[in-house]
Amino acid sequence: MKDIYTLGIESSCDETSVAVVKNGREILSNIIDTQIPIHEKYGGVVPEIASRNHIEAISRVMKKAIEEAKITLEEIDAITPTYGPGLVGALLVGLSYAKALSFAMNKPLVGVNHIQGHIAANYITYKELEPPFICMMMSGGNTQIIYVKDYTKFEVLGKTRDDAIGEAFDKVARVVGLGYPGGPKVDKLAKEGEPNIELPKTHFENMDFSFSGIKTAVINLHHKNPEVNKADLCASFEKTVTEILIENVNKAIKLTGIKTIALAGGVSANSYIRKAFLALEQEDVENKIKIYMPDLKLCTDNAAMIASAGYYNYINGKRDTLDLNAIPNLKL
Ligand code: KG4
Repeated sequence: MKDIYTLGIESSCDETSVAVVKNGREILSNIIDTQIPIHEKYGGVVPEIASRNHIEAISRVMKKAIEEAKITLEEIDAITPTYGPGLVGALLVGLSYAKALSFAMNKPLVGVNHIQGHIAANYITYKELEPPFICMMMSGGNTQIIYVKDYTKFEVLGKTRDDAIGEAFDKVARVVGLGYPGGPKVDKLAKEGEPNIELPKTHFENMDFSFSGIKTAVINLHHKNPEVNKADLCASFEKTVTEILIENVNKAIKLTGIKTIALAGGVSANSYIRKAFLALEQEDVENKIKIYMPDLKLCTDNAAMIASAGYYNYINGKRDTLDLNAIPNLKL
C-alpha cells in the first residue's frame, strides 16, 4: 500500500507548529515554535499578540518541518490544519496558510478538530492503540470524557460546566505566585508538599465536571491565610482534581464497559495525574484496565497530533473546500 504523508498545521493558541507524519503514526518532523516567553509577562495568552506572532513564525516553521522530514511538498498527500476550537485570530493564521498551500499545490485540504488531534497524540505514542476507548481529555481550554468509537466517531460523555482543568491549574499557579503557564509549576511545587488540605469537590449525576468551586476555594484560602504552605496547597489541589477525574472515568467504564483509557491534552503531562491513572491499571483486580498516555512532548499543542488526526480524516474521505472557516467553539 502507498504511504500517505499528511502535513499538520497548528496555531490554535500560543504554539505555531508544523509537522509531517507518515501513515498517521510516524513523525517525520514536528517543529514547535512556542510563544510562552512572550505571553509570560502578561500572565496568560494575549490573543492579538498570539496572532501576530503566528504570522511571523509560520513560514519559517513550515520550511523547517519540510526540510527536517526530508520530503518535498509535492510528496505530501493532504494539508491538514486545525480549524477549531481555539482563538479565532490565531486559528485563522494556520488555516489561511493551509488554504493557500492547498490551492497553490493543488493538494486536498482536510480540516482537523484540535481535540481530535489531542486524542490522536496517543496513536503516535502507541502504534498498537485502536478505538474503541475512553479518552480523558484535559487541556487549557477543554475538559471532556470522550467515548472514541472509531478514529473519526466520538461521543462526549461528560464535559466541564465552567473552567477547563488547565485553566484551573493556571489560575491556582497565578494566585500563589508561580506565574504562567501554571500547570508545570504547580506540578513541580506539589512534589514538595503534602495533600493535607481539604478542598471541595463538585459531583454531578452524569459525567460532567466543574472546577470553578475548587479554584475559588484555593484562591480564598490563599487570600485569607497567606502563610498557608503553597506546596501543600498545590499538592492538595492536584489530589482533589485527580480524584474527580478518576471518579468520572470509573463512571464511563461502568457505562460503556470499555476498559481502555487514554489521557490527552496539556494537563495529561501532569506527573501526579499520570501516576494516579497508572495506579488504576495496577490496582485493577481483573487486570483489564489499560491506561495510555501520550509522550510528554505530545501532550501539549503540536502539529504532529494534528497531522495524525488529519490522516484518519483523510483516509475516511473528509475533504474541505477553500471556504473552510475557523470555528472558535468547534465541537467534536
Ligand atoms: O493542550 P494544551 O497545550 O493547550 C490547549 O489545547 O489548551 O494545554 C495547555 C494546558 C495549560 O493550562 C497548562 O498549564 C497545562 O496544560 N499543563 C499542565 C502541565 N503541563 C501543561 N498542567 C498540569 N501539569 C502539567 N505538568
